Amino acid sequence: MKVPFLDLTAQYNLIKDKIGVALQEVIDNTAFAGGKFVAQFENEFADYCLTDFAIAVNSGTSALWLTLLALGIGEGDEVITVPNTFIATVEAISFCGAKPVFVDIDEKTYTINSELIDAVITNRTKAIIPVHLFGQTADMDPILAIAKKHNLYVVEDACQAHGAEYKGKRAGSMGIAGCFSFYPGKNLGAYGEGGAVITNNSEINEKIRMLRDHGQSKKYYHDTIGWNARMDGFQGAVLNVKLKNLTLWNEARRNNAMLYNRLLKDVIGIIVPKEAGYARHIYHVYAIRLKNRDQLIHFLKKKEISCGIHYPIPIHLQQAYRSQGLGEGSFPVAEQCANEFVSLPMFPELTDEQIKYTVEQIKKFMISIN
Ligand SMILES: Cc1ncc(COP(=O)(O)O)c(C=O)c1O
Repeated sequence: MKVPFLDLTAQYNLIKDKIGVALQEVIDNTAFAGGKFVAQFENEFADYCLTDFAIAVNSGTSALWLTLLALGIGEGDEVITVPNTFIATVEAISFCGAKPVFVDIDEKTYTINSELIDAVITNRTKAIIPVHLFGQTADMDPILAIAKKHNLYVVEDACQAHGAEYKGKRAGSMGIAGCFSFYPGKNLGAYGEGGAVITNNSEINEKIRMLRDHGQSKKYYHDTIGWNARMDGFQGAVLNVKLKNLTLWNEARRNNAMLYNRLLKDVIGIIVPKEAGYARHIYHVYAIRLKNRDQLIHFLKKKEISCGIHYPIPIHLQQAYRSQGLGEGSFPVAEQCANEFVSLPMFPELTDEQIKYTVEQIKKFMISIN
């Protein structure tokens, strides 16, 4: 049986007609750059996230970068985040001219260990970026408390957490701003690149709107130096169709995760993901941990089961950040997880049979190495 890691075609087949109509409408209205379909998406996404504003941009990376710029973060400032994230979180800090400062993660949730934050705060620290990795939020209350005490901004990297919840609050809605990616494989994915910032702060809303559009307050009046980070109309139209299904798709992912959890429960040597008591996990990634990770991936590949690794090298050990001088052993939990993670196939349309077959093969592998 073939089990793809992700199957975007299966999802497209369910919404093909609606997507066709939506894309045709963009063409009929020549609403290609920004425009009314993007504005509609902004309204609906803000409603979905229970925030006052959503600003659509051209990627999650832009969402993070423009948010930090809008907060005035730059040269000489420090921003705290984790080393086990997609590099974009850290690039956004660097692209503002600020210095990323890493903190290790919690061994159970794989998100920032809030107990370690205080120790790295200096008088240059301006913000904390918790990353809601794999679709589960960080433990926000202690993070928000530390930020309040030290007068820091909290910018949530919710690029993997569309619709995830923390104590009933939507991911991205708790800090000064939350940043999302609509890269095609995300729980809410565009048919190209896309991103958004959500916020309840009207000043940040206005600043990001200007920054994404060449610093214009009105056409050809440039109040500040900005950039072109607008969302294109086709992506707005696709996201309008797909947002309506997000709750259902997240629920399907949760059901898939429960089945994996149940079937893998008694397999010695495998750690399954844990949903924290505060969280509603939406399983963008379903990552297990084990010692012989590379061998397992190779074994499953031969059985036509595709897996991923998110992420094999923590950011502080990437060539791009070697200049920070942080060697192996700097963040032991993040490093251990990076060596042990395997992301199993996960998407809403994944069938029970595919999950059962995958687990059967994992069990066969575990027996073969013991
Ligand atoms: C945690 C995290 N942050 C940021 C990003 C960047 O988003 P994008 O690829 O849309 O620029 C991603 C996307 O993969 C991500 O997973």
